[in-house]
Amino acid sequence: MFQVNDNFQKLPGSYLFSTIAKKVSAYQQENPDKNLIRLGIGDVTQPLAPAIIKALHAAVDEMGAAETFHGYAPDLGYEFLRSAIAKNDYESRGCDISADEIFVSDGAKCDSSNIQELFSADCKIAVCDPVYPVYVDSNVMAGRTGVYDAKTEMWSNVIYMPCTMENGFVPEFPKETPDVIYLCLPNNPTGTTITKSQLQEWVDYANKNGAIIIYDAAYEAYISEDDVAHSIYECEGAKTCAIEIRSFSKNAGFTGVRLGFTVVPKDLKRQDVSLHGMWARRHGTKFNGAPYIIQRAGEAVYSEEGKAQLKEQVAYYMKNASVIKSGLQEAGYTVFGGVNAPYIWLKTPDQMNSWEFFDYLLANANVVGTPGSGFGPSGEGYFRLTAFGSYENTVAALERIKKM
Ligand code: MLT
Repeated sequence: MFQVNDNFQKLPGSYLFSTIAKKVSAYQQENPDKNLIRLGIGDVTQPLAPAIIKALHAAVDEMGAAETFHGYAPDLGYEFLRSAIAKNDYESRGCDISADEIFVSDGAKCDSSNIQELFSADCKIAVCDPVYPVYVDSNVMAGRTGVYDAKTEMWSNVIYMPCTMENGFVPEFPKETPDVIYLCLPNNPTGTTITKSQLQEWVDYANKNGAIIIYDAAYEAYISEDDVAHSIYECEGAKTCAIEIRSFSKNAGFTGVRLGFTVVPKDLKRQDVSLHGMWARRHGTKFNGAPYIIQRAGEAVYSEEGKAQLKEQVAYYMKNASVIKSGLQEAGYTVFGGVNAPYIWLKTPDQMNSWEFFDYLLANANVVGTPGSGFGPSGEGYFRLTAFGSYENTVAALERIKKM
């Protein structure tokens, strides 16, 4: 008889951002006259940069002529894009990553949830707490996380590494040795990060213990401090223990365009098996390549014109981050993040948990944010605001919050 994959039944509630969307839409239906400002999901609001639009138009025209038409893309990505990534994201930072270690995809969310297919069912994962929910949920679906305890909001077979104001949001080496360590730096949701030398300690730890680090660097374009690594491959020895996942969503506004990539170094092996080979096999079997048009748009991100325009876009969002941060501080909140990442992480006022503060902010300021507890038990008592709104809306939201 047909049996469903029971692991899906173990997932508590719906995906965090779907739950929020439902709550917000119910509120808007009951209060149609309220003008909501959405600083919840980290979705961009600025239009694509002109250099990217130009590349998209040109690629669309190519698709309209038999001589320049493109069918299936190579499943690992077009050479022109993989080379541009290798040169600009790695070579320029002194990282020895070649084009054929880069796998182009349709986004970092898919890669960060699919990557667990390379691990055996009994691999034990470690995550920062709070954490981007995709890492844990994808491992739940794969049956790797054990039993969920609704009271502690923890899975029995997941190692949680609390990142709170008490430890400066720096994960500590867990007591139990994990097989896989997820690190998202700069961090979503806390907007904080660690220094390159702290990251080097994680690389050394992983190499010593045979663990693999899944390094999500989706927010690297927002790094403003010099002692922070843009790629884990800036650390010595990372090629034997780390997989890096990157996105075009946050640095170039591709949330609705879809493009990302994953680096799996050829030196990364376990039990004499190449993870590069495994990921290539997986990609070849399950993925038919990101669209030609979109990969040309991705290439434009690395053009001189594109780079200059995107630097401005990142600066625009970071200006919002400083408006949020200083506005909240003025209003008496304790805030973190917003320096190397477009997220601001605030302590909820006394006696209010994360979801209570969500409701309070929605009702009193008509501002939508994200409750910290949605990212894990150590997120309780915190709340996330994103800097990805328009400048005008961000300023207006802070005015409302200050009046609350
Ligand atoms: C977020 O709000 O955490 C992000 O938008 C989620 C994502 O990038 O998928």
